[in-house]
Amino acid sequence: MAREKWNNQFAFIMAAIGSAIGLGNVWRFPYMAYDNGGGAFFIPYILALLTTGVPLLILEYYLGVRKQVGPTESYGLIRKNANYIGWFSLGIAAMITIYYTVIMGWAWNYMYHSFHVNWSGDASGFFYNNVLGLSDGVGNLGGIRWPIVFGNLLTWVSIFLIVFKGVKVVGKVVNWTVGVPWALLLLIIIRGITLKGSLTGLEYYLRPDFSKLLEPSVWLAAYGQIFFSLSLGFGIMIAYSSYLPEDSDINGSSWIVAFSNCLTSFFAGFAVFSILGYLAVSTNQPVSEVVASGPGLAFVTYPTAIAKLPGGIVTQAIFGLAFFFMLLLLGIDSAFSLVEAIITGFKDSFNFKRETVTFWVTLLGFILGTLYCTYAGLYWLDIVDHWMNWGLVIVGLLESILIGWFYDPHKVLEDVNSTSSIKLNGFWIFSIKYLTPAILLITLISNFYTEFSKPYGGYPLWARLVGGWFLLLAIFILSIYLQKLVRNKNAKLGK
Ligand code: PHE
Repeated sequence: MAREKWNNQFAFIMAAIGSAIGLGNVWRFPYMAYDNGGGAFFIPYILALLTTGVPLLILEYYLGVRKQVGPTESYGLIRKNANYIGWFSLGIAAMITIYYTVIMGWAWNYMYHSFHVNWSGDASGFFYNNVLGLSDGVGNLGGIRWPIVFGNLLTWVSIFLIVFKGVKVVGKVVNWTVGVPWALLLLIIIRGITLKGSLTGLEYYLRPDFSKLLEPSVWLAAYGQIFFSLSLGFGIMIAYSSYLPEDSDINGSSWIVAFSNCLTSFFAGFAVFSILGYLAVSTNQPVSEVVASGPGLAFVTYPTAIAKLPGGIVTQAIFGLAFFFMLLLLGIDSAFSLVEAIITGFKDSFNFKRETVTFWVTLLGFILGTLYCTYAGLYWLDIVDHWMNWGLVIVGLLESILIGWFYDPHKVLEDVNSTSSIKLNGFWIFSIKYLTPAILLITLISNFYTEFSKPYGGYPLWARLVGGWFLLLAIFILSIYLQKLVRNKNAKLGK
C-alpha cells in the first residue's frame, strides 16, 4: 500500500514549525536569554543553531524522506539492529507527551478562569492552591484534581480528532495552530510594548553581557535550548518527513523550519519582557524580582500582570483569554507531533491500523496522565521533565555517531544535496562527525557531574530514581525488547 502523503511541502513545513514552536519558545527561551547574557546570548544560540540544530534537523529529514519510514525502522536501514534508537526516542516522546498534555490541561482551566480573572489578588496562591492544590511533597499524592483531569481530557480528545485520519488532516490543522498563535503573539507584543515600563523589561532581556560568553554553562544552555526547541531527538521529524515524497528538498525545509522557530522565540521575548517590565515598574520592584520561567511564568507571573492591565476587567479577561488560548495552540501542535511519531512507529513496525493505534495511544496517554493530575502532580512533572532531557541528548548523540562513524556521512551529504536547493558543504560532515557528538558528550558529562553534586530540585533519592534514572533505564530496556520483538516477528514472516 502506498504510504500516505502530506498535501504538499508547505503543509509539512507548517507541521514541523508547529512542532518546534511550543511552550518552550515562550516560557523557556526569553528567560534563558535573560539569564545567560541577554543580547550576548544570541551569539552562542545562533552558533548552536548553525552547528548542531540545522545539521541534526537535516539528518532527521534525510532519514525520513529517503527511507520512507518512521523512527522505528529508519535507523535499522542505516545499520542493522539500530532501531532501538528510534524506539528509545519514542519512549522519551511518550513520557513527555503525558505531562505536556496535562500542562495544557492547566491552560484550559485558565481559559475558563480568564472570564472573571479569577486569579486576581493572589495569582500565586490561586495557581498552587486553587488550581493544583499542591501537596507538601512528592510522596503525598493527596487525591485527584478533577478539573485538571477534565482539561487533560479536552487535550487528548483534540489530539485524537486531529491525528486519527492521518497527515492530510494534520496538514490543514497546522495552518491554524501556527497562524493563530502568531497573530495572538503579535497582539500581545503590541499591547506589551505600549505599556509603561515595557522598555525597562526589554532592556533586561536584551542588554548584552559579553563576559557571560566565557562561562561554559551559557554555551550548554544554548545548545540545550536549540535541541529541545527544534524537537530533535524525539523521532518526530523523522516521522513527519517520512510522509514527504522521496525526492523532496531536505535542506531548504530545514532552514525554513529552524529560522521560523528561532524568530518566534526571539519575538516571544518581547511579549514576555515588556509585560514583566510593566509589572516591575507598576509594583515598584526591579525586573530581576519578577522575572520567571516555566510554569511559574505562564501561570503566576503573567497572570499577575494581566490582572494589573489598565482598562478594567473586560480588557484583562480578553488578554487572559488571548494568552491562554495562545498557549493552548502553541502546545497542541507540539503535542500531536509527539503522538504522531509514536503512531508512525507502531504503524510502520507492526502494520497496525492508524485508527487503532491512535485510539490506544490516546486512551493510555490520558489515563497515565492522571498521575500529574494529583496533588503532587507538579513535582512529578518537574522530575520526569528534567530526566527526559537526558534521553534527548542521548538520542542526539547516538544518531550523530551512527551516521558519522558507522555509516558514510559523505554519502548522506551527496544524497541530500542531489534534491536540495541549498547545497551543504563539508562543514555538515564535520558537524555530524565531530562537533555535535563532542558537544552533546560534554553536555552529558557536565550534567552528570551536577546531577550528583547537587540533587535536582532537592527531591528525595527514591523519587529521583523512580521518576528519573529507573524510568530512563526502563525505557531503554523496553526499546531493545521492542526491536527484538519486531525482528522476530519479521523473521517469522520471512522478511
Ligand atoms: N519544541 C517544543 C517547544 O519548544 C517542545 C516540544 C517538546 C515539542 C517535545 C515537541 C516535543 O516547546
